[in-house]
Amino acid sequence: MIPLCNLQRQYKSLRKEILSKIDELSKKSAYIGGNYVSSFENDFVKKNRAQYGTGCASGTSALFIALKSLGISSKDEIIVPSHTFVATVEAIIHTGATPVFVDINPVDYTINSQLIKKAITKRTKAIIPVHIYGTMCDMETISSIAKQYNLKLIEDSAQSHFASFQGTFSGTIGDVGTFSFYPGKNMGAHGDGGFMIFKNEKDLEIATRLTNHGKLKKFDHELVGYTDRLDAIQATILSIKLKKIFEWSSRRRKLAKIYDNHFSKNFKVIKPSPKCTPVYHLYVVEVSNRDEVMETLQRDNIQTGIHYPDPVHLLKPYKKLNKNALPITEKIRNRILSLPLCPELKDKEQKKVIDSFLKIAEP
Ligand SMILES: Cc1ncc(COP(=O)(O)O)c(C=O)c1O
Repeated sequence: MIPLCNLQRQYKSLRKEILSKIDELSKKSAYIGGNYVSSFENDFVKKNRAQYGTGCASGTSALFIALKSLGISSKDEIIVPSHTFVATVEAIIHTGATPVFVDINPVDYTINSQLIKKAITKRTKAIIPVHIYGTMCDMETISSIAKQYNLKLIEDSAQSHFASFQGTFSGTIGDVGTFSFYPGKNMGAHGDGGFMIFKNEKDLEIATRLTNHGKLKKFDHELVGYTDRLDAIQATILSIKLKKIFEWSSRRRKLAKIYDNHFSKNFKVIKPSPKCTPVYHLYVVEVSNRDEVMETLQRDNIQTGIHYPDPVHLLKPYKKLNKNALPITEKIRNRILSLPLCPELKDKEQKKVIDSFLKIAEP
């Protein structure tokens, strides 16, 4: 089977180093906090050319803690695309705030920056652009709207580690960028993990406290916090993967370009903004006969996926929330299909995917 993402092959290539690091830290029983965590945190922040950041338990906890740190509460409205993983909206709901959905653009599937101003009300406190599929939102327009209306900007960078917009890395443009290290992400832990990068040192301090029972050091519980830390085993595995991430992103771009060369003439594929260097967390193509394509590829031993079959506003808990028309979000939901793409995908495997897809897919 050619999987969407070949984590087993990746593990094989890193196994020795990972096991030796886990053995080293286990001998010291250095599982929570300590040097393995702070060393990864410093390296991740530095590689992002940022100043302030902390690890946390997951991409969802990163979003929730980030919103809490910025003071988001039940009076507030937050502008967000519905075409995202449900976690972006869960985090908003758990702060008590109200998500206000804005449609995406059909070119790169990110939030349509031209529709944001219309969604702003007196209660709007923040915008969460989601850099979906590893391609970046129109951060030039979105940043200027945030500035003009004095709104907080939280970049959901769960799918876009080290993508860049006009040369600046994803998650380092807004007040805070949140990252997921879910195993299948471009940089994946061996379990759950997340990260927040802040513009402001004070926000970092609040967030760090919130992840760790309200404290920065032992028994200094200044806030009511949570247990939402990044643990040392995940941090040390991520340190190993951090050394590879640029090479992996290049391979993803190369594979995406090959898919583009075969598909873009007849099929709708993601077109990242020319201002963005994407990292192709997913390769998504639109087809009109999706079930048939998925069945045929399955028979040819190729895994496919749908990200996501239901936009958030059509899921049961969120149905009553939406007041805005989201025609593009609703149109693409039955057409989008994710094909295998990961740095470990071999050229001959990709060729098999392309041949199988082209024999059945209809635009
Ligand atoms: C866009 C987006 N936001 C948030 C998350 C949540 O991250 P996690 O699964 O690490 O909680 C994910 C991934 O799962 C995601 O794709």
